[in-house]
Amino acid sequence: MQLIKSVSELRSVRSKLAGTVGFVPTMGYLHEGHLSLVRRAAEECDHVIVSIYVNPTQFGPSEDFEAYPRDLERDMSLLEPLGVDIVFAPTDDEMYPPGFQTYVEVTELTKVLEGASRQGHFRGVTTVVAKLFNMVQPDKAYFGQKDAQQAIVIRRMVADLNFPLEIVVCPTVREPDGLAMSSRNTYLTPEQREAAPDKARALSAAEKAYMDGERSSGRLREIMLDVLNSEPLAEVEYVSVADNETLQELDGPIEKPVLLSMAVRIGKTRLIDNIVLGGTDRG
Ligand code: PAF
Repeated sequence: MQLIKSVSELRSVRSKLAGTVGFVPTMGYLHEGHLSLVRRAAEECDHVIVSIYVNPTQFGPSEDFEAYPRDLERDMSLLEPLGVDIVFAPTDDEMYPPGFQTYVEVTELTKVLEGASRQGHFRGVTTVVAKLFNMVQPDKAYFGQKDAQQAIVIRRMVADLNFPLEIVVCPTVREPDGLAMSSRNTYLTPEQREAAPDKARALSAAEKAYMDGERSSGRLREIMLDVLNSEPLAEVEYVSVADNETLQELDGPIEKPVLLSMAVRIGKTRLIDNIVLGGTDRG
Protein backbone atom coordinates (compact mmCIF):
# COMPACT_ATOMS: atom_id res chain seq x y z
CA MET A 1 0.00 0.00 0.00
CA GLN A 2 1.45 3.29 -1.12
CA LEU A 3 0.82 6.68 0.52
CA ILE A 4 0.75 9.42 -2.13
CA LYS A 5 0.40 13.13 -1.44
CA SER A 6 0.80 14.78 -4.84
CA VAL A 7 -1.46 14.73 -7.88
CA SER A 8 1.48 14.20 -10.26
CA GLU A 9 2.67 11.09 -8.40
CA LEU A 10 -0.91 9.79 -8.19
CA ARG A 11 -1.33 10.16 -11.96
CA SER A 12 1.96 8.43 -12.65
CA VAL A 13 1.23 5.44 -10.35
CA ARG A 14 -2.44 5.24 -11.50
CA SER A 15 -1.40 5.06 -15.18
CA LYS A 16 0.57 1.87 -14.44
CA LEU A 17 -2.39 0.03 -12.83
CA ALA A 18 -3.82 -2.59 -15.19
CA GLY A 19 -7.47 -3.62 -14.81
CA THR A 20 -10.32 -1.90 -13.00
CA VAL A 21 -9.93 0.68 -10.24
CA GLY A 22 -12.41 1.13 -7.39
CA PHE A 23 -12.26 4.45 -5.56
CA VAL A 24 -13.42 5.26 -2.03
CA PRO A 25 -13.28 8.99 -1.24
CA THR A 26 -13.19 9.73 2.51
CA MET A 27 -12.37 12.47 4.97
CA GLY A 28 -10.48 9.98 7.14
CA TYR A 29 -10.92 8.98 10.77
CA LEU A 30 -12.18 5.76 9.29
CA HIS A 31 -14.82 3.53 10.86
CA GLU A 32 -16.51 0.30 9.86
CA GLY A 33 -18.79 2.22 7.46
CA HIS A 34 -15.78 3.35 5.38
CA LEU A 35 -14.15 -0.07 5.66
CA SER A 36 -17.31 -1.73 4.28
CA LEU A 37 -16.97 0.49 1.17
CA VAL A 38 -13.31 -0.46 0.81
CA ARG A 39 -14.12 -4.18 1.14
CA ARG A 40 -16.83 -3.88 -1.50
CA ALA A 41 -14.43 -2.04 -3.83
CA ALA A 42 -11.79 -4.75 -3.29
CA GLU A 43 -14.36 -7.46 -4.11
CA GLU A 44 -15.50 -5.77 -7.31
CA CYS A 45 -12.31 -4.18 -8.70
CA ASP A 46 -8.72 -5.19 -9.47
CA HIS A 47 -7.27 -2.22 -7.58
CA VAL A 48 -8.50 0.06 -4.79
CA ILE A 49 -7.62 3.70 -4.22
CA VAL A 50 -8.79 5.48 -1.05
CA SER A 51 -8.54 9.23 -0.64
CA ILE A 52 -8.26 10.85 2.78
CA TYR A 53 -8.85 14.58 2.67
CA VAL A 54 -10.82 16.84 5.00
CA ASN A 55 -12.19 19.13 2.34
CA PRO A 56 -12.41 22.74 3.59
CA THR A 57 -14.85 23.91 0.89
CA GLN A 58 -17.68 21.69 2.14
CA PHE A 59 -17.65 23.15 5.67
CA GLY A 60 -19.50 26.37 6.50
CA PRO A 61 -17.72 29.10 8.52
CA SER A 62 -19.38 28.02 11.79
CA GLU A 63 -18.96 24.28 11.17
CA ASP A 64 -16.46 21.77 12.54
CA PHE A 65 -13.65 21.88 9.94
CA GLU A 66 -10.93 22.57 12.53
CA ALA A 67 -12.32 20.07 15.05
CA TYR A 68 -12.93 17.29 12.51
CA PRO A 69 -10.94 14.27 13.77
CA ARG A 70 -7.78 13.40 11.85
CA ASP A 71 -5.36 10.47 12.32
CA LEU A 72 -3.63 9.36 9.14
CA GLU A 73 -1.47 6.74 10.85
CA ARG A 74 -4.50 5.04 12.39
CA ASP A 75 -6.36 5.19 9.04
CA MET A 76 -3.38 3.64 7.23
CA SER A 77 -3.25 0.75 9.72
CA LEU A 78 -6.97 0.07 9.18
CA LEU A 79 -6.59 0.10 5.39
CA GLU A 80 -3.39 -1.96 5.14
CA PRO A 81 -5.05 -5.39 5.68
CA LEU A 82 -7.85 -4.66 3.17
CA GLY A 83 -5.73 -4.86 0.01
CA VAL A 84 -5.74 -1.13 -0.76
CA ASP A 85 -3.20 -0.18 -3.44
CA ILE A 86 -3.00 3.56 -2.91
CA VAL A 87 -3.96 5.98 -0.16
CA PHE A 88 -4.13 9.48 -1.64
CA ALA A 89 -3.84 12.10 1.12
CA PRO A 90 -3.27 15.45 -0.60
CA THR A 91 -2.49 18.77 1.09
CA ASP A 92 -4.80 21.80 0.81
CA ASP A 93 -2.30 23.45 -1.55
CA GLU A 94 -2.36 20.41 -3.82
CA MET A 95 -6.19 20.44 -3.98
CA TYR A 96 -6.78 24.20 -3.96
CA PRO A 97 -3.61 25.91 -5.19
CA PRO A 98 -3.43 29.71 -5.14
CA GLY A 99 -5.74 31.17 -7.80
CA PHE A 100 -8.27 28.33 -7.59
CA GLN A 101 -11.72 29.60 -8.67
CA THR A 102 -13.65 26.82 -10.43
CA TYR A 103 -16.57 25.06 -8.72
CA VAL A 104 -19.03 22.34 -9.69
CA GLU A 105 -22.64 22.82 -8.62
CA VAL A 106 -25.71 20.58 -8.88
CA THR A 107 -28.42 23.21 -8.71
CA GLU A 108 -31.81 21.73 -7.78
CA LEU A 109 -31.18 18.59 -5.71
CA THR A 110 -29.00 20.62 -3.35
CA LYS A 111 -31.66 23.19 -2.40
CA VAL A 112 -33.39 20.91 0.13
CA LEU A 113 -32.55 18.86 3.24
CA GLU A 114 -28.79 19.04 3.99
CA GLY A 115 -28.36 21.65 1.25
CA ALA A 116 -30.95 23.94 2.86
CA SER A 117 -29.37 23.56 6.32
CA ARG A 118 -25.74 23.75 5.16
CA GLN A 119 -25.36 26.55 2.59
CA GLY A 120 -22.58 25.81 0.10
CA HIS A 121 -21.93 22.32 1.49
CA PHE A 122 -22.76 20.39 -1.67
CA ARG A 123 -20.90 22.85 -3.90
CA GLY A 124 -17.80 21.92 -1.91
CA VAL A 125 -18.60 18.20 -2.07
CA THR A 126 -19.24 18.09 -5.83
CA THR A 127 -16.19 20.24 -6.53
CA VAL A 128 -13.81 18.05 -4.55
CA VAL A 129 -15.38 14.79 -5.78
CA ALA A 130 -15.18 15.97 -9.42
CA LYS A 131 -11.51 16.86 -8.89
CA LEU A 132 -10.81 13.50 -7.24
CA PHE A 133 -12.57 11.63 -10.07
CA ASN A 134 -10.39 13.48 -12.58
CA MET A 135 -7.25 12.65 -10.61
CA VAL A 136 -8.03 9.01 -9.79
CA GLN A 137 -9.87 8.06 -13.01
CA PRO A 138 -11.80 5.24 -11.30
CA ASP A 139 -14.09 2.70 -12.94
CA LYS A 140 -16.33 2.60 -9.88
CA ALA A 141 -16.68 4.94 -6.89
CA TYR A 142 -18.21 3.89 -3.57
CA PHE A 143 -20.41 6.02 -1.29
CA GLY A 144 -22.47 5.25 1.81
CA GLN A 145 -26.28 5.42 1.98
CA LYS A 146 -25.78 7.21 5.32
CA ASP A 147 -25.20 10.39 3.26
CA ALA A 148 -28.22 9.68 1.05
CA GLN A 149 -28.51 13.14 -0.49
CA GLN A 150 -24.76 13.25 -1.21
CA ALA A 151 -25.03 9.96 -3.15
CA ILE A 152 -28.03 11.26 -5.15
CA VAL A 153 -26.28 14.56 -5.90
CA ILE A 154 -23.08 12.80 -7.00
CA ARG A 155 -25.00 10.42 -9.29
CA ARG A 156 -26.59 13.50 -10.90
CA MET A 157 -23.21 15.17 -11.35
CA VAL A 158 -21.71 12.02 -12.88
CA ALA A 159 -24.61 11.75 -15.35
CA ASP A 160 -24.70 15.47 -16.17
CA LEU A 161 -20.93 15.85 -16.68
CA ASN A 162 -20.44 12.48 -18.41
CA PHE A 163 -17.92 11.06 -15.96
CA PRO A 164 -17.14 7.56 -17.30
CA LEU A 165 -17.66 5.69 -14.05
CA GLU A 166 -20.26 3.85 -12.00
CA ILE A 167 -21.46 5.06 -8.60
CA VAL A 168 -22.05 2.26 -6.08
CA VAL A 169 -24.06 3.10 -2.95
CA CYS A 170 -23.53 0.75 0.00
CA PRO A 171 -25.76 0.19 3.07
CA THR A 172 -25.40 2.27 6.23
CA VAL A 173 -23.34 0.47 8.86
CA ARG A 174 -24.80 0.76 12.36
CA GLU A 175 -23.62 0.23 15.93
CA PRO A 176 -25.40 -2.62 17.80
CA ASP A 177 -27.90 -0.07 19.27
CA GLY A 178 -28.75 1.24 15.77
CA LEU A 179 -26.66 4.45 15.74
CA ALA A 180 -25.37 5.03 12.20
CA MET A 181 -21.56 5.03 12.19
CA SER A 182 -20.03 8.47 11.67
CA SER A 183 -16.66 10.05 12.41
CA ARG A 184 -18.66 12.76 14.22
CA ASN A 185 -19.92 10.22 16.81
CA THR A 186 -16.54 10.71 18.49
CA TYR A 187 -17.70 14.20 19.58
CA LEU A 188 -20.46 12.75 21.81
CA THR A 189 -20.14 12.61 25.60
CA PRO A 190 -21.22 9.27 27.17
CA GLU A 191 -24.63 10.78 28.04
CA GLN A 192 -25.11 12.16 24.52
CA ARG A 193 -23.97 8.85 23.04
CA GLU A 194 -26.84 7.14 24.90
CA ALA A 195 -29.33 9.60 23.40
CA ALA A 196 -27.92 9.38 19.85
CA PRO A 197 -29.72 6.21 18.64
CA ASP A 198 -33.04 8.12 18.90
CA LYS A 199 -32.76 8.78 15.15
CA ALA A 200 -32.56 5.07 14.33
CA ARG A 201 -35.49 4.46 16.71
CA ALA A 202 -37.54 7.17 14.97
CA LEU A 203 -36.79 5.64 11.56
CA SER A 204 -37.66 2.13 12.82
CA ALA A 205 -40.98 3.39 14.24
CA ALA A 206 -41.89 4.97 10.88
CA GLU A 207 -40.77 1.86 9.02
CA LYS A 208 -42.95 -0.33 11.26
CA ALA A 209 -45.96 1.92 10.64
CA TYR A 210 -45.27 1.74 6.88
CA MET A 211 -45.04 -2.08 7.05
CA ASP A 212 -48.37 -2.08 8.93
CA GLY A 213 -49.93 -0.19 6.00
CA GLU A 214 -49.48 3.51 6.89
CA ARG A 215 -49.08 5.50 3.65
CA SER A 216 -49.62 9.08 4.83
CA SER A 217 -46.40 11.07 4.52
CA GLY A 218 -47.62 13.49 7.20
CA ARG A 219 -48.30 10.67 9.63
CA LEU A 220 -44.83 9.16 9.08
CA ARG A 221 -43.29 12.57 9.80
CA GLU A 222 -45.33 12.79 13.04
CA ILE A 223 -44.26 9.30 14.12
CA MET A 224 -40.59 10.20 13.70
CA LEU A 225 -41.03 13.54 15.49
CA ASP A 226 -42.81 11.87 18.43
CA VAL A 227 -39.81 9.60 19.03
CA LEU A 228 -37.26 12.41 18.59
CA ASN A 229 -39.18 14.86 20.81
CA SER A 230 -39.28 12.30 23.62
CA GLU A 231 -35.46 12.52 23.85
CA PRO A 232 -34.63 15.66 25.87
CA LEU A 233 -31.06 15.94 24.50
CA ALA A 234 -32.19 15.85 20.84
CA GLU A 235 -32.82 19.13 19.02
CA VAL A 236 -34.50 18.37 15.69
CA GLU A 237 -33.26 20.40 12.70
CA TYR A 238 -35.46 18.70 10.13
CA VAL A 239 -37.48 15.53 9.60
CA SER A 240 -38.33 14.71 6.01
CA VAL A 241 -40.42 12.33 3.94
CA ALA A 242 -39.33 12.99 0.36
CA ASP A 243 -39.36 11.42 -3.08
CA ASN A 244 -36.21 9.26 -3.25
CA GLU A 245 -35.29 10.58 -6.71
CA THR A 246 -36.21 14.25 -6.76
CA LEU A 247 -35.89 14.79 -2.98
CA GLN A 248 -39.08 16.88 -3.10
CA GLU A 249 -41.02 16.80 0.16
CA LEU A 250 -44.22 14.72 -0.04
CA ASP A 251 -47.60 15.95 1.16
CA GLY A 252 -50.02 13.27 0.13
CA PRO A 253 -50.03 9.48 0.18
CA ILE A 254 -46.84 7.57 -0.56
CA GLU A 255 -46.81 5.83 -3.94
CA LYS A 256 -43.14 5.70 -4.95
CA PRO A 257 -39.97 4.92 -2.96
CA VAL A 258 -39.51 7.54 -0.24
CA LEU A 259 -36.47 8.76 1.63
CA LEU A 260 -37.11 9.26 5.33
CA SER A 261 -34.34 11.46 6.66
CA MET A 262 -33.46 13.76 9.51
CA ALA A 263 -30.81 15.98 11.04
CA VAL A 264 -30.65 16.23 14.82
CA ARG A 265 -28.34 18.14 17.10
CA ILE A 266 -27.22 16.47 20.30
CA GLY A 267 -25.29 19.12 22.20
CA LYS A 268 -23.00 20.69 19.59
CA THR A 269 -22.93 17.58 17.42
CA ARG A 270 -25.09 17.48 14.29
CA LEU A 271 -25.99 13.95 13.22
CA ILE A 272 -27.98 12.69 10.23
CA ASP A 273 -29.69 9.41 9.40
CA ASN A 274 -32.12 8.00 6.83
CA ILE A 275 -33.85 4.96 5.38
CA VAL A 276 -35.60 4.31 2.08
CA LEU A 277 -39.09 2.79 2.15
CA GLY A 278 -40.84 1.12 -0.74
CA GLY A 279 -37.79 0.73 -2.94
CA THR A 280 -34.37 -0.81 -2.91
CA ASP A 281 -33.31 0.20 0.58
CA ARG A 282 -29.60 0.58 0.43
CA GLY A 283 -29.57 1.88 4.02
O1 PAF B 1 -18.64 11.74 2.52
C1 PAF B 1 -17.53 12.27 2.72
O2 PAF B 1 -16.72 11.82 3.54
C2 PAF B 1 -17.16 13.52 1.92
O3 PAF B 1 -18.28 14.33 1.69
C3 PAF B 1 -16.43 13.20 0.60
C4 PAF B 1 -17.32 12.43 -0.35
C5 PAF B 1 -15.17 12.38 0.89
C6 PAF B 1 -16.02 14.50 -0.09
O4 PAF B 1 -15.16 15.25 0.70
